Amino acid sequence: MATPLTDFIHDAREGLARPPRRLPARYFYDALGSALFEAITVLPEYGLTRADARLIRAHAAALARRLPRRVRVIELGSGSAVKTRPLLERLARGRALAYCPIDISRAALERCAFELRGLAGVALRPIAAGYEAGLGRALAGRRRGEGALLLFLGSSIGNFEPEAARAFLRRLRQRLDAGDLFLLGADLVKDRARLRRAYDDAAGVTAAFNKNLLARMNRELGANFELSGFAHEARWNETARRIEMHLRALRRQRIRIPAAGLAFTLRPGETLWTESCYKYRPGELRAWARQTGFKPLAEWRDRAWPFTENLWQAAEA
Ligand code: AVJ
Repeated sequence: MATPLTDFIHDAREGLARPPRRLPARYFYDALGSALFEAITVLPEYGLTRADARLIRAHAAALARRLPRRVRVIELGSGSAVKTRPLLERLARGRALAYCPIDISRAALERCAFELRGLAGVALRPIAAGYEAGLGRALAGRRRGEGALLLFLGSSIGNFEPEAARAFLRRLRQRLDAGDLFLLGADLVKDRARLRRAYDDAAGVTAAFNKNLLARMNRELGANFELSGFAHEARWNETARRIEMHLRALRRQRIRIPAAGLAFTLRPGETLWTESCYKYRPGELRAWARQTGFKPLAEWRDRAWPFTENLWQAAEA
């Protein structure tokens, strides 16, 4: 299994035992959570994925011009890869392509294989793993003379604290060869009401996505969370420039998580902090490139939903 139960138990124990109670965002993505996230990507309020997809389409040809005849495309957190398909189609023209989607959800990788059916000239090599272990495996299968294009789309970088994000980018660089390309999608700061709606949609899909984390703990850790006793909350933190997702206890609750050996009481109003989604300023990521061993080649921006696609190249060590 890509995310071993022992990790989940360990992180639940570390994160939930005492306030401030929190859990890493990667635990959202079980089979149901991944499906709920796919639903989020098509919400009218959530313009992020459409902006990402528009930029990828608009600049696929420019990307293709920079790539050699043989390329391994590696995507961190591919999900269903709906927005990656047009890029692969463009890159496959006149090129030998291997595509390694990496995801912690096997269900997502199965949808990915389905979405890419009938795509000629692309060798599909799905990897069920976390980002770094997956990247190691994807690169281990690399052939001599094969270029690499690493994709980290959809602003998933936004789940990392900025310091941790830069450390992570440095580790990615260390696994790559000088000259390899990296395409990094990053969501930009925008009108706060628009951002809040994107993370607290009218149909309640994001609320369901958030609460599924409680349901997952009930299913996998034997916990006793009552979902009706929690409210979904999305706050914009102006100083840190991030959306914070929480689950707020509506009443006093005695929580038991047997697999993690935990028992604690939630006071009414107390929250579980489930996710941070950092938003960036134009040019911010360009500075990060230099700090993490990359050379920034291009920064493409969407106007309708301020978002950037950052094309970097692994610099000489
Ligand atoms: C997958 C981390 C990019 O931050 O927008 C969407 C996750 N959470 N709605 C984001 C998410 C709630 C998403 N990322």
